[in-house]
Amino acid sequence: QNMGQTRSKPEEEDDSAVLVAQEEDFKESKRVRARVNDREVVIFYHDGKYNALDLRCYHAGGPLHLGEIEDIGGQTCVICPWHKYKIALATGEGLYEGSDPQDPKETMWFSKGVKQRIHKVMVRNGGVYVKLSDTRIQCESDYYTSKTFDEDNNML
Ligand code: FES
Repeated sequence: QNMGQTRSKPEEEDDSAVLVAQEEDFKESKRVRARVNDREVVIFYHDGKYNALDLRCYHAGGPLHLGEIEDIGGQTCVICPWHKYKIALATGEGLYEGSDPQDPKETMWFSKGVKQRIHKVMVRNGGVYVKLSDTRIQCESDYYTSKTFDEDNNML
């Protein structure tokens, strides 16, 4: 069997990237909400970088497009507006604060591992494209992407 034939070529990967916005759409709010192949995603623009994540928080489906962006332990994070979970934009890791093993009076940030699915963002000629990550590898936030929410973000 020739395993090489099953590998996708770079051009094929580019075909699956979906145009979600123009760069100028990020000027004011620094974020755009989009639907990519039936998946709700949010794209943030912060410090000259774009990051895309599943829009519904892995914890209980909170609306991450309404979250504040903050630097936490050296990582740019979105703070979920519902229960204030912190999610690193670049990796999708959930962060939690614990006591520093070196100095138990101090606290530091730890990772719970990747909890929120991140997606790839590409910019071409002013257009912002998102390519979904491989959903065959499961991620906790997958659960809420299959649910429906009303305008107030309540799960239906
Ligand atoms: Fe996001 Fe609970 S739903 S912190």
